[in-house]
Amino acid sequence: IEYGRPQRREPWWIGQREDLLARAETGTPRYVYHLETVRERARDMLATDAVDRCFFAIKANPHPAILRTVTDEGLGLECVSLGELEHVFATLPELPASRVLFTPSFAPRREYEAALARGVTVTLDNIEALQRWPEVFRGRTIWLRLDLGRGDGHHEKVRTGGAAAKFGLPLARFDAFLAHAHALDIRISGLHAHLGSGIEDPRHWREVYAHLAGLADTAGDVDTIDIGGGMPIPYTPDAQDFDLAVWRAGLDEIKAAFPRYALVVEPGRYLVAEAGVLLLSVTQVVEKDGVHRIGCDGGMNVMMRPALYDAWHGIHNISRPGDTSTTAFEIVGPICETGDVLGRKRLLSSATAEDDVILVADTGAYGMTMANTYNLRALPAEDIIE
Ligand code: LLP
Repeated sequence: IEYGRPQRREPWWIGQREDLLARAETGTPRYVYHLETVRERARDMLATDAVDRCFFAIKANPHPAILRTVTDEGLGLECVSLGELEHVFATLPELPASRVLFTPSFAPRREYEAALARGVTVTLDNIEALQRWPEVFRGRTIWLRLDLGRGDGHHEKVRTGGAAAKFGLPLARFDAFLAHAHALDIRISGLHAHLGSGIEDPRHWREVYAHLAGLADTAGDVDTIDIGGGMPIPYTPDAQDFDLAVWRAGLDEIKAAFPRYALVVEPGRYLVAEAGVLLLSVTQVVEKDGVHRIGCDGGMNVMMRPALYDAWHGIHNISRPGDTSTTAFEIVGPICETGDVLGRKRLLSSATAEDDVILVADTGAYGMTMANTYNLRALPAEDIIE
């Protein structure tokens, strides 16, 4: 154990087996979200003196009960599409536009127009949009997303900085952007960077703030610095909780060095991943060429992260408590693709059989939102535990 690293928190679903089995009876695949866990994680973020505002990246999980929970805690919401914006205002008609960010990527013109008309804070990340649509942005106040020249995160597909990534204005074009903006009477009130998702080093955000604050000091009118999301959660058994103490200390220190700016964070995963589990039912248990497979009624269609990023999620048979016999299983779904695997070499009860309930842990972020109807299989159900 490294000195100072926090111990793992116990998952909420330990001790909720009967309740989860009853929910599974009403149909699987089914996501279940535990709102108290969302609330705790929201408080983790806000209990950081240096953080002035926190926006939940709703792409991780836009379930209405989750949006209500985080906004009740005082968070704002970050949206990346007109669909997300419309969902937010349909779910929370009273939410002031000042509590919503719009940070799209390669969005069509009409989405910027709609967001500006709504009064939400719009972030741009290229000069071409100003050149092509000057009349959309003239006289407006916007934020600028920068590419700080490097990406970070749990997999190459989620690193959002550096030349290979499509996001952000490169630093070499910063001055040119300011000149274009000036010519259109545009005020840049915020600088933004989000370098990726699942970033392990808690000092990362401090470095991003320092970098952006140095740039903001030369840019004139900036009052806000958004250092993105990307805070990780411990998916594997040997991972530790994100070190909030180190994160907070780093932000406090750097905020004291550059106190002029409001500090904004926009986590997605951190707030909701551990709050969600996915319940599946076993369809068939099959041995082939020495490999034992548990087939479930959902796979890459309902939970894409293992297929897309080789992501690791805990997988448990909650129908066989106390059974200590184990077999190394591959857990697969019903989709006609070889990559339809949720986990390999997992020790589960040797007695696992049809209709047992399988729990896939830490699936509250990027689970339901990335589910699809491939093979014309239905989308999962969703439940809330208040
Ligand atoms: N802000 C911006 C501008 C983003 O693009 C994202 C996520 C976030 C905030 C929130 O990042 P988070 O705190 O959740 O890491 N589907 C992938 C993650 C893709 C993240 C996309 N952008 C996964 O399942 O790992």
